[in-house]
Amino acid sequence: MEKPISRKIGSTQLVILLGDITEQPTEAIVNAANPSLRGGGGVDGAIHRAGGRQILEQCQTYTRKHGSLPSGKAMVTTGGKLRAKYVIHTVGPVYKNKQESPPILQSAYQESLKLAEESKITSVSFPSISTGAYRYPLQAAAEVAVKAVIGCLRAGSALQLVQIVCFTKNTFTAYKMALEEATEQA
Ligand code: APR
Repeated sequence: MEKPISRKIGSTQLVILLGDITEQPTEAIVNAANPSLRGGGGVDGAIHRAGGRQILEQCQTYTRKHGSLPSGKAMVTTGGKLRAKYVIHTVGPVYKNKQESPPILQSAYQESLKLAEESKITSVSFPSISTGAYRYPLQAAAEVAVKAVIGCLRAGSALQLVQIVCFTKNTFTAYKMALEEATEQA
């Protein structure tokens, strides 16, 4: 089992670990959703299966009122039957190229953290957004994700804990490298 890697950024602990996001005890977990918010495969499917019907019902209420969730934006529902009290749903970019995709991925992390702060959430777990079905190259996505999170935390945050939960060893290695590089430069 890989040992988690941890850094203190401002007053927040940032942790990268290998694991299943549906089992995390943080107050919120983030879902890599799609604009319809109707669920899907990957981490989205796992979260809806583990959290139950209530999550989907709240997503449907949201889309009836506001329409689909654009990529780079975030909304929040209950965690239903999950250990987490809330699920923050965000939509990463379907990978296109080095110009268009990074700002959207960056925004997905920033908007999720902003919503967590606004909701007075103190701990949150992210998956590796966009690196599955949306085919964002892993190392590039890890660099954007880590920089986006560190940027938000350095700007001042009431969050105590932010985790990035990697489902595979390759994913863990990519995020670990990105965190080491980002904090070495500091
Ligand atoms: N815990 C943590 N990470 C997980 C889990 C889990 N239980 N299950 C899958 N993952 C990881 C994958 O290994 C991948 O690294 O989540 C990462 C993101 O992959 P996807 O879930 O495919 O998400 P994404 O690339 O953002 O694509 C979103 O997939 O299922 C659909 O509805 C979703 O259409 C949307 C698209």
